[in-house]
Amino acid sequence: MKLVVKDYLFEKIEHVFEKLGFDKNDAGVSYSGRPEVCDFQCNSAFGLAKKLGKNPMELANMIAKELEVLSDEFEISVLPPAFINFKMTDKFLSKIANLALDNQKNLIKTPEKPIKVVLDYGGANVAKELHVGHLRSPIIGEALCRLNRLMGNTAISDVHLGDWGLQMGLTIAQLEDDGYLDGYFGKGKNKEITLDTLNEEYPKASKRKKEDDAFHKKAEDYTLKVQRKIEPYYSIYQDIRELSVKRIAANYETLGCHFDLWYGESTADPYVEKAIQIFKDKNIARISDGALVVDVAVEGENIPIEKKTPDEPQRYKNPMPPAILKKHNDADGYATTDIATILMRNEHDAPDKIVYVVDFRQSMHFIQVFRASKLAGISPKEQELVHVSYGTMNGKDGKAFKTRSGETIKLEDIINLITSKAEEKLKANGIEGNKKLALQIGVGAMKYGDLSNIASKDYVFDIDRFSSFEGKTGPYIQYTAARINSLLEKAGTSGGEIVIDSPETRNIIVNLIKLLDSYYVCYQENSLNALCLAVYNLASSFSLFYNNIRVLTEKDEKKKKSYLSLCALVKDAIVLALDTLGIETPNRM
Ligand code: ARG
Repeated sequence: MKLVVKDYLFEKIEHVFEKLGFDKNDAGVSYSGRPEVCDFQCNSAFGLAKKLGKNPMELANMIAKELEVLSDEFEISVLPPAFINFKMTDKFLSKIANLALDNQKNLIKTPEKPIKVVLDYGGANVAKELHVGHLRSPIIGEALCRLNRLMGNTAISDVHLGDWGLQMGLTIAQLEDDGYLDGYFGKGKNKEITLDTLNEEYPKASKRKKEDDAFHKKAEDYTLKVQRKIEPYYSIYQDIRELSVKRIAANYETLGCHFDLWYGESTADPYVEKAIQIFKDKNIARISDGALVVDVAVEGENIPIEKKTPDEPQRYKNPMPPAILKKHNDADGYATTDIATILMRNEHDAPDKIVYVVDFRQSMHFIQVFRASKLAGISPKEQELVHVSYGTMNGKDGKAFKTRSGETIKLEDIINLITSKAEEKLKANGIEGNKKLALQIGVGAMKYGDLSNIASKDYVFDIDRFSSFEGKTGPYIQYTAARINSLLEKAGTSGGEIVIDSPETRNIIVNLIKLLDSYYVCYQENSLNALCLAVYNLASSFSLFYNNIRVLTEKDEKKKKSYLSLCALVKDAIVLALDTLGIETPNRM
């Protein structure tokens, strides 16, 4: 039964509508808002009655009567004024529970035809320090990548480092002025460049760019020299890149983000010329202010003005600016490398879909890149290009998360901060000095805190709440699994067939079904928040069960074995859900 239960029921209702001569587009079913009464509800009789000028209650009864064939699976009742309620029978629930016990992955709906997807996330910039603003893309991207794999798709993750832009020229120009590069220019010895050097030099250069025009020009020129692989600029660039990438890799490793491809903007360089030629051959590029551009606006179109926050109403301006294929000095820009990268990906992997997990502020950039690539035929018509855009991670004051003194926080510092919170909590539980465990919990807290929100919105990064072992948090869910683990260890006997024998056991299986259903929903929406909510609900339904039912001291052997299986099932379901979110499940906490 590789099908969402809600979809299964929906199909049956649709079928009944057709059979009764109603429009099947009027059929609908949803999870019940009152789980204590029923599991699903169909409110379609109301609309139908209005449309046909009939009595709603009569229609509801008529539909319910036809659905009686499902009585093995659902208890159906009709409540005035015209609600049709469905409650899954214990028989149906135990059937699903035992199937899930066997292999829960088999119950998760997956796309009919697996596809090949490239996921572009991470995207850290070489020579720049990683800060909190770089947290969301790897967290969301990694989870989407894992979800795609669970769906049976071939997923290729590419970190797509920012390594071909002006920051490279800026950093080199500043390092030169500060006497680090004399050796490269044959004027003596180089001064050692460390990560700390880069952390000082780039911000310095970035500030200077705004005040010092000559410096800005020089940085542009050096960027072009790097892109043309002119020495010693190219060697300097490569040395800086290597140093910086080591640090970036270590950060992503700590976050548990894995990339199949460690490519960057620069990797697409060999494809730039070919891509540009395609635009020229198709006669769709033109020169504007010395730059080579392609017009991507469509008739009568308003283009979105960058929002300050995702919740602010959308305002528009006209027209959509063209995408810049070559800058005024013939250098490659951000759109150039992204378009060339699409060409490269299509020549290497020909993916059905490319997913970009990038900040919402870059929405217009992706509209331009996607349209330009389609116009040129660099991205085939049927290829799906998706920008999964996310909002800002804010502090409790509702503004972008900063230190008390108003500086942006380094990524490493934020990881350390939340990890030490986890250490405190562990200490209270009698576990000390386990850094690895504290990191699993800290990163889990951060990831769950992020993914449980709708990605496109801003969210408040609340360290205390996120790292709590109670409530809707990563650690609470991890803790539930750890508790089950020790219970199963103590039991010393294996489980048996699951029997639904109480409201508590019923509640667990209903929530398990909702969890299994949520994977496909998340896949369709490119969002993880439904999965986060569902795994939390499962964990809390387990807590209710655990508080009310004595598993280990149960005298009835059959019951005890059923309980043990139920525990194992919940644990496996949590492990799978957290694993999909990119969160580890420790055995003990
Ligand atoms: N390096 C970019 C930035 O920091 C993000 C890269 C996103 N991916 C892409 N293909 N443009 O803004």
